[in-house]
Amino acid sequence: MDFELKTLDLAGAASEKCDALIVLLTESFKPSRDAVSVLLSQALKAGDLELKASQCLSVYRPDALACTRLVLAAMGDGSVRDLRKAVSTAVAAIKGGKVKKLALCFATAPSEQALHCAVLAVAEASYVYTTTKSKPEPRTIERVVIGLADANACKPLFQRAVAAVAGIEYAKEWANRPANHATPTQIAGAAKALAKFAGVQCEVLGPKQVAGLAMGSFMAVAQGSNEPLRFIVLRYAGAAKAQPPTVLIGKGITFDSGGISLKPAPEMDEMKFDMSGAASVLGVFRALAELKPKINVVGLIPACENLPDGRSVKPGDVVTSMSGQTIEILNTDAEGRLVLCDALTYAERFKPRAVIDIATLTGACMIALGGVRSGMFASNDELADALLAAGEASSDLCWRMPLDEDYAEGLKTNFADVANVSGRAGGAITAAKFLQRFAGKFPWAHLDIAGTAWKSGIAKGATGRPVALLLHYLLNSVK
Ligand code: BES
Ligand code: MN
Ligand code: ZN
Repeated sequence: MDFELKTLDLAGAASEKCDALIVLLTESFKPSRDAVSVLLSQALKAGDLELKASQCLSVYRPDALACTRLVLAAMGDGSVRDLRKAVSTAVAAIKGGKVKKLALCFATAPSEQALHCAVLAVAEASYVYTTTKSKPEPRTIERVVIGLADANACKPLFQRAVAAVAGIEYAKEWANRPANHATPTQIAGAAKALAKFAGVQCEVLGPKQVAGLAMGSFMAVAQGSNEPLRFIVLRYAGAAKAQPPTVLIGKGITFDSGGISLKPAPEMDEMKFDMSGAASVLGVFRALAELKPKINVVGLIPACENLPDGRSVKPGDVVTSMSGQTIEILNTDAEGRLVLCDALTYAERFKPRAVIDIATLTGACMIALGGVRSGMFASNDELADALLAAGEASSDLCWRMPLDEDYAEGLKTNFADVANVSGRAGGAITAAKFLQRFAGKFPWAHLDIAGTAWKSGIAKGATGRPVALLLHYLLNSVK
């Protein structure tokens, strides 16, 4: 989908030739004398449209307008929530039609956040997954003109939003692919494909090299699968070498059956999404490649399958992580932390300014925060505040969770330095406490995206979160 930014007031919008024109209105809208305003005043007067509510009114071949379809979309007070609703309803109203070129205009000047959200919402509402369909129906909307009273002033912001869309859609694509079309090797291929962009480099380690690094914890998870593991190292270099990078680590379990601690059958298919953290790292790099900011970023992805087999790791087995700490694997379904801990140790070599891991780590986090906010844990208040703020600004929300040392009590065991699980209580927090043991050498944050990375039910599919949050954080990280 191509986005274009254009200076358009309502009179300009009226003469913009397009298959559909969506006009976004807030309560503070004052009609003037252009053709759109005339139509609007009539609709408001007749009570067919109310600015307070999030309501839509569609018109076909309106007189005196150059568009084929017009959708007037009210969005109440213009809050991000109402804006998203208005855009998705309006795009739904023209979906199925033959709309190739869409123009989206603001009748009242949007805030920075609203503009960002509008671009993301159009992409979201028109996204279709096609890769594994035999007769795909690709998205019909090819071009989107964003019309604003002063386009020039909004250009950098607009470019950010467009890059975020490219990143989010790259993340969605890889997270949505079924596990037999997104193996560790194929994920590594997706990472390598990013290295064709200037500034991006990619190195992929296989089983032998990972054994050489003594990543005994990561290897233990992978050993039950015939698919060889991959450890992916992405680098984006936009600043001087001396500038310490931010390291992003994405959990890349391409399928999580639970292993010997097998999961129940219902909804097990959704565990193809267990590499959503990895997909978000790929997505961030896709966006960085587009924006070329003056920062350094490293992306690490430990990728493998978690399957039951004669060679699988068993409950009670003790393995030695790259850090030297021994781990008793009491539950093979708590595999995310086992692959992440070795990646955290690997991250030390970059002398990072901060390390953020992103993982669909615990069902408990989904229970705690639902699908609205990702769980955020941080060893450093400044990092926590920056991530929280980035979430708010990009409408990709997170919520800080505690890391009190008392939560680590249950990870004690008689047979190793640490166990990989404790009881059911506080499951998202005890998982974070496990990771924290491997993150002592740098400012560290952990995003548990179990509830936010995908949707279940009829809208089943990846959300592309938290690409927008991470991107926002990174672009604000070094001034
Ligand atoms: N990938 C799952 C977490 C998950 C479960 C995400 C459901 C989204 C929906 C993770 O590997 C896992 O299985 N975690 C266990 C941990 C438990 C064994 C301590 C869980 O949450 O049940
Ligand atoms: Mn698991
Ligand atoms: Zn998992």
